[in-house]
Amino acid sequence: EAAEKAGYEHFMLKEIHEQVSAIHNTLAGKVSELEGTIYLKELNMTEDEIRRLSRIQILACGTSWHAGLLGKYLFEQLAGIHCDIDICSEYRYRNPVMDDGMLAIAITQSGETADTLAAVREVASYNCPTLAITNVVGSTITREVDSVLYTRAGPEIGVAATKTFSTQLTLLYLLAVKFALSRGKLSHNYVKGFITDLRKIPGQIQQILNQKETVKECAEAFAHAKSYFFLGRHLNYPIALEGALKLKEISYLHAEGFAAGELKHGPIALLEKGTPVVTIATKGQTYDKVLSNIKEVKARDATVIAIAGNKDTEIGKYADVVLTIPQSSELLSPLLSVVVLQLLAYYTALARGCSIDKPRNLAKSVTVE
Ligand code: AGP
Repeated sequence: EAAEKAGYEHFMLKEIHEQVSAIHNTLAGKVSELEGTIYLKELNMTEDEIRRLSRIQILACGTSWHAGLLGKYLFEQLAGIHCDIDICSEYRYRNPVMDDGMLAIAITQSGETADTLAAVREVASYNCPTLAITNVVGSTITREVDSVLYTRAGPEIGVAATKTFSTQLTLLYLLAVKFALSRGKLSHNYVKGFITDLRKIPGQIQQILNQKETVKECAEAFAHAKSYFFLGRHLNYPIALEGALKLKEISYLHAEGFAAGELKHGPIALLEKGTPVVTIATKGQTYDKVLSNIKEVKARDATVIAIAGNKDTEIGKYADVVLTIPQSSELLSPLLSVVVLQLLAYYTALARGCSIDKPRNLAKSVTVE
């Protein structure tokens, strides 16, 4: 086992680091910067079928559901396709309405999650085209769907998903951009820029990893907090949810993720003096709104840990701690912010002496209902 960990103390830390190569592998052969085009030859859909899509239904559980939630934003924002997302254990029992022109996308790292398989069987029984995003070659899901896109992240041993999440996101970006191109919503010129930015992501993740000591210090400072909150808006809302789930899973700390705009609709009542509130405050269309949320949090004497771009000179005036990520496009910044949150969860669990790779009560894949 020590050899497999390649010098890292835990598989989770190794897998967080492997995101640099994993995203690179996911992209291999799928993008042409010169042509501004995405190639997904595993997708068994004609250009005409992509153009005629009226709706996408995403099905997933846990961390894969968080990836899917970001996918919803991407399919609607970039490709203009209405997209719903459901937790599989709900979908399978709620008599969902399906229609012609719907594509179901199942996201599952293991390809073996019982609820996800059941939800896919439900949509397949209506002859709805199905696509799976999975990491495990030959897993059950791959035999149940029309097309399979592999994340190519390599085996993930840590129970907490890390590199499989960021590679699921990578595929969802590619899929949304491909659909947008097919439907005339984006130009090849735009896609050239997008690919240039996407190709920079592995190197930018490496930069975050190079400064992981800063995240460690922050994690240690708040390792004994009673409760942790995570806030994000728009594309960062799913990332806030994922940050909270990672922390819960491996550190056993109470943590909740919220859409920052929901704060005053209830969660703000939970804030106490010193409660750590991780706020994703990268530059973008909702930045000003996030700054207002930070001020609301500060007014309750809670402590703001902001995730922000390293060129942001303003955020330090408002936040108690700033954890920086390299400057990137607003669209792709979730791929960077999540790495900081994974490290925060990891170092918090380490400081609390938890069993990081095999957290209590959790299995790597949930193969029973
Ligand atoms: C992730 O850290 C969790 N262990 C869990 O939420 C997981 O994402 C969920 O069980 C879904 O698994 P799957 O992707 O293999 O279907």
